Amino acid sequence: MELLHIFPEQASNFAAEVDYLYLFMIAVTVVFTLGIFAAVFYFAIRYRRRSETEIPVAIHGSMLLEIAWSVIPFGITMVMFGWGASIFFKESRPPDNATQIYIVAKQWMWKLQHPEGQREINELHIPVGRPVKFTMTSEDVIHSFFIPAFRTKQDVVPGRYSTVWLTPTKPGKYHLFCAEYCGTKHSGMIGWVYVMEQNQYQEWLNGGASMGSMSEKGGKLFDDLACSNCHKQDGSGRCPSLVGLYRKHVQLADGRVITADEAYLRESILQPSAKVVAGFQPLMPTFQGLVNEEGVVQLIEYIKSLSPMPGTGAAPVNISTPAGEFKPIPQGVAQPAPGNSVPKGR
Ligand code: CUA
Repeated sequence: MELLHIFPEQASNFAAEVDYLYLFMIAVTVVFTLGIFAAVFYFAIRYRRRSETEIPVAIHGSMLLEIAWSVIPFGITMVMFGWGASIFFKESRPPDNATQIYIVAKQWMWKLQHPEGQREINELHIPVGRPVKFTMTSEDVIHSFFIPAFRTKQDVVPGRYSTVWLTPTKPGKYHLFCAEYCGTKHSGMIGWVYVMEQNQYQEWLNGGASMGSMSEKGGKLFDDLACSNCHKQDGSGRCPSLVGLYRKHVQLADGRVITADEAYLRESILQPSAKVVAGFQPLMPTFQGLVNEEGVVQLIEYIKSLSPMPGTGAAPVNISTPAGEFKPIPQGVAQPAPGNSVPKGR
């Protein structure tokens, strides 16, 4: 794509594929535009009125022609659809080992959290060559997370999580935009993505604030909000134990079976009565307004840490601690040193 500088750099695993599809659509458009213009001029000259008295021969259509001009464009658009859908499916299915980054958008900034605990505003540091999954939500209106060099653009919607993943392939500094008009300072809702070499990234992580990993903060919040009074780890509480819950199938009181993913966990924190687990009473109060979106994702990371899985970045937790005194023990998580410039605060 070097010859076409109107394209941004190709810096993710999806970039080339998206570009090929885009070029295909441009090619189809150009071919049809030129063909239609040529036909207009050719017919205008070839079939022009030659005398005042000329009356054209009546024709009654051509089945063959009509089928051809219906079936051929249909075929071409189905190629676009199939091709686009296959890229969409790939972008929607993150690999299991993808690093989770949480993004909370608000008027007018991007707030990003790493599982290791680093928080950033309008800046994102990620390592090259490792898949990253973004779980995103908004605190107010619809925004759109757009990194042209990655060919990644995903709406960020209040009240739900949207996800997208990619693997950065080239170290560098890339633009981050909001691509959905979201108010006065929409055009200022921009930032930078830094794709770093593995060792530089590790250094950057180590230089972060010593505020603990997301799951540790979530565990603290879990205690502060007194969740631990009912959700006891040994299952003796009035509410279900959350140990091993993440990604498990859950039988609900109304007979449905759902998978305990991030969206379910979020809903159960903010609207506990929406999906009540079979065998339990709808006792839990809503935490809407008591915990913000950034707190919710920390709680989710904490709950995920109760179901350790290889390569998810979730810190395993010592589940033998007595209920109410959770002490998450991070393993393989770099302990950041104190003092740095990463913005904090909720
Ligand atoms: Cu946020 Cu536009």
